[in-house]
Amino acid sequence: MNILESAILEYGEAIDDQVIKVDAFINQQVDPVLMDQFAEAIVAHFKQHKITKVLTIEASGIAPALLCALKLKVPMVFLKKQKPSTLKDVYSAEVFSFTKQKNYTLMLDQQYLNESDQVLFVDDFLANGAACKGAIAIIQQAHAKLSGIAILIEKSFQDGRALLEEQGYEVYSLARIQKLEKGNITFLTGK
Ligand code: G4P
Repeated sequence: MNILESAILEYGEAIDDQVIKVDAFINQQVDPVLMDQFAEAIVAHFKQHKITKVLTIEASGIAPALLCALKLKVPMVFLKKQKPSTLKDVYSAEVFSFTKQKNYTLMLDQQYLNESDQVLFVDDFLANGAACKGAIAIIQQAHAKLSGIAILIEKSFQDGRALLEEQGYEVYSLARIQKLEKGNITFLTGK
């Protein structure tokens, strides 16, 4: 069992068979020491790639992405979900969130990603992969290259990984949840 799986068992809570609550160290309160260790594992995994930017989505992806970027000594860029008045030339992608049952638009100022970038996408959760698909659409609009996808918690009983692997992307998840039941969390073995 790795450090994230241990933390999930200690501080996480299966709300039902679909959703796990990890507010205690990822989604509301952030444990910087744990997050630093998660970032260390991600950066070690992608060390052969010449990453130039770490990309994520606000809000909860920012903490792990920033620590990865710090270790790689490259900028961290986050996609916004609301358009600030100062944003002019943007890349954008529509996303439907299954968890929240609503559409939102991901946006990025065009000056922060371009064709010379090798991108590592980092996020806290992978469920159905809709958010990740939106991020990939933006990477493509910028003509940048996606080197890989790093996820803290993958819900392997949902379709995200299969969808991304079908498109040829490498998905590296620190914890893969096979099954959630109220009060019980089962991990997939042999990651
Ligand atoms: P998908 O992108 O993989 O298809 O997932 P989905 O749209 O269903 O997820 C929408 C939001 O819900 C995302 O956060 C995602 O990280 C989060 N999420 C999905 N499943 C779980 C879960 O089991 N537990 C928790 N805690 N979160 C989950 P978001 O809306 O972007 O929120 P935030 O980054 O602002 O916190």
